[in-house]
Amino acid sequence: MGKATPIPKIRLGINIDHVATLRNARGDALPDPIRAAQLAAEAGADNITAHLREDRRHIRDHDIARLLSEVDCPLNMEMAATKEMTEIATKAIPPATCLVPERREEVTTEGGLDVVGQRDVLAPVVAALSGAGTKISLFIDADPSQIEAAAGLSVPAIEIHTGAWCHAADEGRQDKAETEWNAIVEGAAYAHSLGLEVHAGHGLNYVTAEKISSIPEIVELNIGHFVVGEAVFVGLGESVRRIRAAMDRGRALADAGRGDRIA
Ligand code: PXP
Repeated sequence: MGKATPIPKIRLGINIDHVATLRNARGDALPDPIRAAQLAAEAGADNITAHLREDRRHIRDHDIARLLSEVDCPLNMEMAATKEMTEIATKAIPPATCLVPERREEVTTEGGLDVVGQRDVLAPVVAALSGAGTKISLFIDADPSQIEAAAGLSVPAIEIHTGAWCHAADEGRQDKAETEWNAIVEGAAYAHSLGLEVHAGHGLNYVTAEKISSIPEIVELNIGHFVVGEAVFVGLGESVRRIRAAMDRGRALADAGRGDRIA
């Protein structure tokens, strides 16, 4: 048997939205999400992720400007596929953008984009963003029809929504967790076979981040709420280092056992 191709490094994107949530609770300037982004970068984050929501409930427009000008770490701007957000992103041109579904009343991003049903809405946004030179990913469930539709839009990357798996795993619902896990494993392999770069995120913690890092096709995780919550107890630098270490342990497993799966 030939030597297995090394598995690509897995990148860590730290989502700092909830530092802004805390700041906005007092309507003041602190805690500063830009300081959090700088600390996360120093502690080993490869990207900073921030979601500029329509209602600006956490990240605000000036945060995006400062993340781009003051932080020495590439920004992945999460955004809805709206005219307003497209105008902002095509002016600011963050290195990466992730298109997410957004409903005002939701607590967080619940479920992936319906790329199959929303193709006509998404296509012009994808065209505008890629014309501006930002690398686009689509946040979708690990559903083969959504993955095919994403590939059909010629985006370079998808981010698989891991929320359903993480919730089931956290609550000890084994059967559901296994079903969701299998969908993620199969979805990642399918997307990779179609030429898509595969990211994943939502609801990840030390345990689930370690496990999902063993999937060799996944090359980026985006993690926010848990890491910011942990920072209350161990400090932000330490929570970033711990999640990074968990990912490295998971990747080592992949290197040990499944390296020959990657083409
Ligand atoms: N990826 C995307 C596309 C998201 O919308 C979010 C939540 O903002 C995350 C990752 C991070 O999820 P969490 O905060 O649960 O780690």
